[in-house]
Amino acid sequence: MEIKKVAVLGCGLMGSGIAQVSATAGFNVTVLEVDPKYIEKGFAAIRKSLDKLAAKGELADTADAIFARLKGTTRKEDLADCDFVIEAVIENLDEKRKMFASIDPIIKSSAIFASNTSSISITEIMTATKRPAQFVGLHFFNPVPLMKLVEVARTIMTSAEAFETACAFGAKLGKIPVRTSDKTGFIVNRLLVPYLMDAIRAFEEGVGSVADIDASMKLGCGYPMGPFTLLDFVGLETTFYITNVMFDEFKEKRFASPSLLKRMVMAGWYGKKNGKGFYDWSNPEKPVPQDAALRGFAKE
Ligand code: 3HC
Repeated sequence: MEIKKVAVLGCGLMGSGIAQVSATAGFNVTVLEVDPKYIEKGFAAIRKSLDKLAAKGELADTADAIFARLKGTTRKEDLADCDFVIEAVIENLDEKRKMFASIDPIIKSSAIFASNTSSISITEIMTATKRPAQFVGLHFFNPVPLMKLVEVARTIMTSAEAFETACAFGAKLGKIPVRTSDKTGFIVNRLLVPYLMDAIRAFEEGVGSVADIDASMKLGCGYPMGPFTLLDFVGLETTFYITNVMFDEFKEKRFASPSLLKRMVMAGWYGKKNGKGFYDWSNPEKPVPQDAALRGFAKE
């Protein structure tokens, strides 16, 4: 099946990145949002990223030409003739099901639907539609324009053709597709989430400070960023949601959210996106570790 037009549902951190790489790969992309202000914000981030990549000579096309392939809309009808739909709305089962149920009758029957969910069951989202054979998971990584991986997940009802089309589509976006199935967390989060939760538990147990734990994994293991920087980068509320889904599935402590993460989310500390997490991001160039505020949770 040939894919020409792509729809992206949601223009947040992941949606805007997915729209950007799709347009960069030459597809015409329509991005759906509930309010034009979110399209404006997401498109501004895309423009900034494209300009940066263009300045480094990393784009085959001009940033203007790529940007011109992007269209924002708040009308679901504008997605009717899309061939491939990628959902990147809030990480919440009901919201995702509602979204897919509402677009399913509008979008042409041959189109493939994909969810960028990191932890919710693809099968459970898929049952909101009448196209189980054409439904896959397509899980990108943040920041989407830079991270080379995409996980492609099939359910027991996904057709071989739709699965292969989704893998080929991922490759066309310049990503390395890895094949997996609808098992909670797929490959990356199955391994990453226990590591991140362990970092928080190590902090709670007084093993080291935020900065020292980060420096240890960065300098001792060659990870590009330490666990707390990564947590702030992914978003604490997103990570908290993922841990809850994974714990619910596996009932194993390694997936459980430590009290500190829960308290930080309750306090509205979501990480870099809203300025405060394990670091204060008021100056994004110089994040300040928040050990003093978090001390009540760490053994001296
Ligand atoms: N678009 C274009 N350029 C970008 C960009 C973007 N979106 N984001 C960063 N850059 C640029 C930077 O501005 C910088 O440019 P410069 O060299 O001109 O200064 C360049 O890319 C390199 O960035 P950094 O200086 O920050 O250097 P790094 O070497 O640290 O690279 C990184 C950045 C690739 C993000 C690297 O830190 C990294 O790999 N971090 C780990 C990210 C990760 O693990 N992501 C997965 C999260 S898990 C997930 O998403 C799944 C979910 O389900 C939880």
